[in-house]
Amino acid sequence: MKKHTILAVDDDRTNLQIVRDVLEKDYDLQLAISGEMALRFVSRRRPDLILMDLMMPGMDGKETMRRIRMENANQKIPFVFLTANQSPEEEAACLDMGASDFISKPIVPSVLERRISRIMELEDFHHDLEAKVEEKTRQYQELALESIFAIVNIIEAKDEITEGHSVRVAGYSMALAKAMGYDEQRVEEVYQTGLLHDVGKIGIPDLILKKEGKLTNEEYGEIKEHTSIGGHILAAIETMGYLADGAKYHHERYDGTGYPQGLKGDEIPEIGRIIAVADVFDALVSKRHYKEPMDTEAARNEIIRGSGTQFDPKIVEVFLKLMDDGTVDRIRSQSIRVREPEE
Ligand SMILES: [Fe+2]
Repeated sequence: MKKHTILAVDDDRTNLQIVRDVLEKDYDLQLAISGEMALRFVSRRRPDLILMDLMMPGMDGKETMRRIRMENANQKIPFVFLTANQSPEEEAACLDMGASDFISKPIVPSVLERRISRIMELEDFHHDLEAKVEEKTRQYQELALESIFAIVNIIEAKDEITEGHSVRVAGYSMALAKAMGYDEQRVEEVYQTGLLHDVGKIGIPDLILKKEGKLTNEEYGEIKEHTSIGGHILAAIETMGYLADGAKYHHERYDGTGYPQGLKGDEIPEIGRIIAVADVFDALVSKRHYKEPMDTEAARNEIIRGSGTQFDPKIVEVFLKLMDDGTVDRIRSQSIRVREPEE
């Protein structure tokens, strides 16, 4: 196993000599005789532990620790202070700053050896645990996304003409969320929600979904049901409670004339207003059973025409920017096929 690197900092060379005698055989031991020297060392290489004299001329131990920890990557380095009859208040202050332990001077070699090895064991255990949690989290996220894509395949298998629709809508929605300042986690949630916005179509008869002529009122009524059905299906995934809103609200209109609830303006959850723009844009520029694709410029005008009536004007504004800077085109051309086309 690779030896841990320990940086020992003390202005007293006799102390450093004792530290060296005790620790050199088990660790990659580095020595510094001042805070400044310690800072220079850490800027080149990150030790696994810093053993530091509290009282040093010039930059003292506390100040050196503060400066080292200013760097984000250094915040987890454990510090152990060497103290010579410091007050309990002083020790408490150091602990508050995040010191792991104290070793009092004069240094007792057997104590030094045991304390350091105990701390290093704990550190290893901690790193191990962190790595395991990270790995599990990654696996969990992967499983979630794979499951979502499996459902997307089911949605798209219902109707080959809408192939790629879910992925593109998810892509536009994600770009909107990013541009609107959502944090990374929420952006990912918006992406997943976009992927599943049409899941309710699973519950709509193929004859209606694929009908080429005009729909009767009754048939249109049935199509509208895909929002509530989708909301209902996704409500079952309780650990991803955010998913249902996209399916449920992506056909609400800003002026309150949409479905299923006829919500108006900000009453419509923002995810619904985001997906509405992404969904309509993609439908306009794609072929459907009942229409040929529209060119991008005409689709852009349609989106502008719907601003304030069908769509949230703030979101339209962001979408137009994404069209102008090429983001929309890029997503459109990159959208992967989730199902192989039939020969
Ligand atoms: Fe829909």
